Amino acid sequence: MEIRITQTTTPSELPPEDKLGFGKVFTDHMFLMDYEEGKGWHDARIEPFGRITLHPASTVLHYGAEIFEGLKAYRRKDGGVQLFRPMENIRRMNNSAERMSLPQIDEGDMLQILETFVRLEERFVPKSFGTSLYLRPFTFGNDETLGVHAVKRATFMLIASPSGSYYAEGINPVKIMIESEDVRTVRGGTGYAKCGGNYAASTRAGERAAKKGYSQVLWLDGVERKYIEEVGAMNVMFKIDGEIVTPALTGSILPGITRKSCIEVLKSLGYAVSERLLSVDELLTAMKAGKLEEAWGCGTAAVVSPIGKLAYGDDEYEIGGGKIGPLTQKLYDILTGIQWGEVEDTFGWIHKL
Ligand code: PLP
Ligand code: COI
Repeated sequence: MEIRITQTTTPSELPPEDKLGFGKVFTDHMFLMDYEEGKGWHDARIEPFGRITLHPASTVLHYGAEIFEGLKAYRRKDGGVQLFRPMENIRRMNNSAERMSLPQIDEGDMLQILETFVRLEERFVPKSFGTSLYLRPFTFGNDETLGVHAVKRATFMLIASPSGSYYAEGINPVKIMIESEDVRTVRGGTGYAKCGGNYAASTRAGERAAKKGYSQVLWLDGVERKYIEEVGAMNVMFKIDGEIVTPALTGSILPGITRKSCIEVLKSLGYAVSERLLSVDELLTAMKAGKLEEAWGCGTAAVVSPIGKLAYGDDEYEIGGGKIGPLTQKLYDILTGIQWGEVEDTFGWIHKL
């Protein structure tokens, strides 16, 4: 695939690494390509970062035809740059596209886009452990008509943001509220796809939780409001009386790449991981009996994030004395060690640039 590159004539200064939040500053360029039914993807180009113009009838503005991914470029100690399991993101993006009737992208082309773009923006990959260049590929429907149908025109873009910790708490335990009013999705819906609408519909609950001092909500299933699903930007895992449990992928949960990697790391350490239905009642009973030993979330942005407090209704429960548990710490060390190139990657997950 040929990518036309127009470089900026006004390169920006690098943001200070100790003040990076999540997704607040962007690199100097952006990647774009266009899709038209019958013509396929074309006009692949990298341009100076800037605003884009859209027709007011664009499908994305009315019917939410949008999907995205999130992955990171990490700086190794030797100065090199690497990606973590990029093919997983590429495949998931195509699964999301299939669900939302948006055009898929050839896997090889997508990898080439990621590699070309990160190489061009290499100086923006920060150097401190825990920081990274967050990559955000996304596709949106761009038909200039108000009819509701599978899109015939779309745009794919890639932008990148030098980022630090997703939560203000960093690796310190976060407080999560179990949401019993709103639901995120239902089976048969779009829960397993990474589409913008899932996030738009979840912010009301997120804002309510934030007002009460919680970082995010823990969703229950959309039919019975009984089973634990996932958190706003991460999957969840629990250690209950020795058993490691994570909600099964029932179709309404995002199949997290960090989740999958945590399961593989845990198995390699000799731990069994139960992927099963976990009811909120079972979790409450375990919390009350002091048998919930550890709880953590896992996601690209959030990495491995200990959950120190869980609230349900008017009750709040502290987990592990509000401190990071030993298994959570171990997982964090191994996973971040592999991602930042400080621990040998025996899994074949690293993609060096
Ligand atoms: N669940 C949701 C809703 C997410 O947005 C994310 C983040 O991408 C995850 C789970 C974790 O997925 P991953 O580990 O692939 O980043
Ligand atoms: C991720 O990429 O890890 C995410 O959770 C995306 C999120 C910030 C919406």
